[in-house]
Amino acid sequence: MPVDLSNGKPLAWDSAKLDADTKAMLDNLQPNILQAHVRESMSLLLVHFGDGPDGRRFLRSLVPLMKSARKHLEEVRDFNRTKKSGTPYVGVGISKIGYLKVGHSPTRFTDNAFKSGMKRRKDTLSDPAVGAWEEHYQEEIHAIVLIGDATPEPVAATRERVLALLPKTAKVVGEEKGEGLRDAQGRGIEHFGYVDGRSQPLFLADQVAAESGTNWDPFFPLSHVLVPDPLAPHPARHFGSYLVLRKLEQNVRAFREAEEALADALGLKGDDRPLAGAMLVGRFRNGTPLRLHGKPSSEGHPVQNDFSYRDDPGARCPVGAHIRKANPRDSRDGGLERALGVMMARRGQTYGGRTDRPWDDAPATTRPAGGVGLLFMAFNSSLQSQFEFTQQTWADNPDFPAGGTGHDPVIGQGRRDVKVRYPKAWDSAKLSAPQRQVPQTVTMKGGEYFFMPSLAYLKSL
Ligand code: HEM
Repeated sequence: MPVDLSNGKPLAWDSAKLDADTKAMLDNLQPNILQAHVRESMSLLLVHFGDGPDGRRFLRSLVPLMKSARKHLEEVRDFNRTKKSGTPYVGVGISKIGYLKVGHSPTRFTDNAFKSGMKRRKDTLSDPAVGAWEEHYQEEIHAIVLIGDATPEPVAATRERVLALLPKTAKVVGEEKGEGLRDAQGRGIEHFGYVDGRSQPLFLADQVAAESGTNWDPFFPLSHVLVPDPLAPHPARHFGSYLVLRKLEQNVRAFREAEEALADALGLKGDDRPLAGAMLVGRFRNGTPLRLHGKPSSEGHPVQNDFSYRDDPGARCPVGAHIRKANPRDSRDGGLERALGVMMARRGQTYGGRTDRPWDDAPATTRPAGGVGLLFMAFNSSLQSQFEFTQQTWADNPDFPAGGTGHDPVIGQGRRDVKVRYPKAWDSAKLSAPQRQVPQTVTMKGGEYFFMPSLAYLKSL
């Protein structure tokens, strides 16, 4: 039976009743797409091929270091039962020019953003001029090899094995090192100090069952992340996903100053002051959603995610907060992120070391102004209607969801001219006087679009 990507039920991946096509799909799909792979430590190798046939051989030679999505899911199941660790993650993505280089026409791909490459989408995304990107992103990147695991040692060992396979005609034009950040309670956070990676579309029956809720349905069909791999031997059973990679530098000092300035402007005192940052992000630092609480809550481990914005016109969670701009949940038209298929699977990792404690209240002056940030990564079935749509039509659009909302305070790009009003207090219909928007504190330093092909394609090279 052909794999039904729009199936309205979560995928019971370990069911004995699984049909042959779905089994083949899981045996040939790369891991980390349907379910996040542990990647506390990461190395991303950005590769340029000088010679097409050598490039093909290199890509094929990586297959024995890789595992299938099914193998990964089995490892996760075993780990939950026995605490036995799995094997490192090795993922491979190929850019549009990479496909051309290895002699495969990218015309069979349907995504126009992918077929243009990120450099040519810079106006759509209001990105900095390519000349301002980090040098390695200015080069032609043909492929990316992602290596990840729970600790640095297996990543270093696997990285050596990958590099040993690299032909003389190819070079690593750049490398990114991801390093997970955790708060004092061990929760994954980003550099501004907030819990991140919590709200995700879930595709698998066991994951959906573990996340019961009444306000937010975390289940999304496979069509949000998978497309037939057009160059695989059997595109009806061999699937892949589009990967967006963006290096986003965070000026933590400036963000902290903006939080303080907003708290002053709103007259917030004492333990109400964290409300200012929460109004920018939509959650307090410990992940407490502003939709549910006006103060950081100790309830909810894991961090609460069962909420929608129905009945909150913005008095609790401002409509301009990052998480509300990036995922309006069901505030309009039954859930734009679902109706329009926007929700993507975020799989980023923080980069850059810190000697301070990102989650505490130490003064802004003690915070890094650069050199740290997020290696934003997400899997999409359409870069145009998921990642790009979120960035351009929601985050960079001061009129989404309504006039006067302003840019996304965290990731919005473009001139922040519109003045915005915030609730005077949590759950208050009274609004502040119009305020200048917080400055842009996240800077795009480069990136690229890739397709993560099926293992069957890589084996066929
Ligand atoms: C959620 C921070 C970049 C889209 C979040 C959360 C934080 C955060 C703290 C809350 C945790 C959660 O709900 O999972 C950041 C920072 C970024 C960044 C600091 C850059 C340095 C991006 C980009 C996009 C994006 C580039 C997409 C264009 C989302 C989405 C959610 C989210 C869709 C989930 C919202 C929800 O479902 O409620 N981000 N983010 N983020 N972010 Fe970002």
